[in-house]
Amino acid sequence: MLTMENIVRDGHPMLRKKVSEVAEIDAQTIAELKSMREYLINSQDPELSEKYSLRPGVGLAAPQIGLDKRMLAIYAEDEDGNPEYDYMLINPKVISHSVNETYLPGGEGCLSVDEEIEGIVQRKKRIRVSAETIDGDKIEIKAKGFLAVILQHELDHLNGVMFYDHIDKNEPFEPHDNAQPLE
Ligand code: NI
Repeated sequence: MLTMENIVRDGHPMLRKKVSEVAEIDAQTIAELKSMREYLINSQDPELSEKYSLRPGVGLAAPQIGLDKRMLAIYAEDEDGNPEYDYMLINPKVISHSVNETYLPGGEGCLSVDEEIEGIVQRKKRIRVSAETIDGDKIEIKAKGFLAVILQHELDHLNGVMFYDHIDKNEPFEPHDNAQPLE
């Protein structure tokens, strides 16, 4: 299983690389992606996260565990503890997005960034993403709100972009005219 020791941290060149398309969804790739999803699930389990010192996360991209592959996992539960978002995406691509933006009022964090960085990260409010599943099926996701934010954060990792790159250094908490905070 993956632990924080497997997650590369800010300053590592993998986090600044535009990583490569997955050419073949082979057994190793599937195992890697499943282990990324498993990390997220374990990290949200109070006992396991304590036992293995896992920082809780809702998204993880392959370059964060040192892999040069365009793939990512997202896992988040609703208030009742049921899976709300559960994705393992290979070669995801943005098809379209809204003009309007949104942001998490408390800012974003990242498993690869150990310190808190203050400021809002403005994201598209809605996006449509195409991707392949581990079974090789093509899917399309219409995302809004929190899922749209997570997806854009993880998609950025595939292009060597960190969340804090989007924070305005001079006005870190000043939203754009077309941006509404996410409730
Ligand atoms: Ni991140």
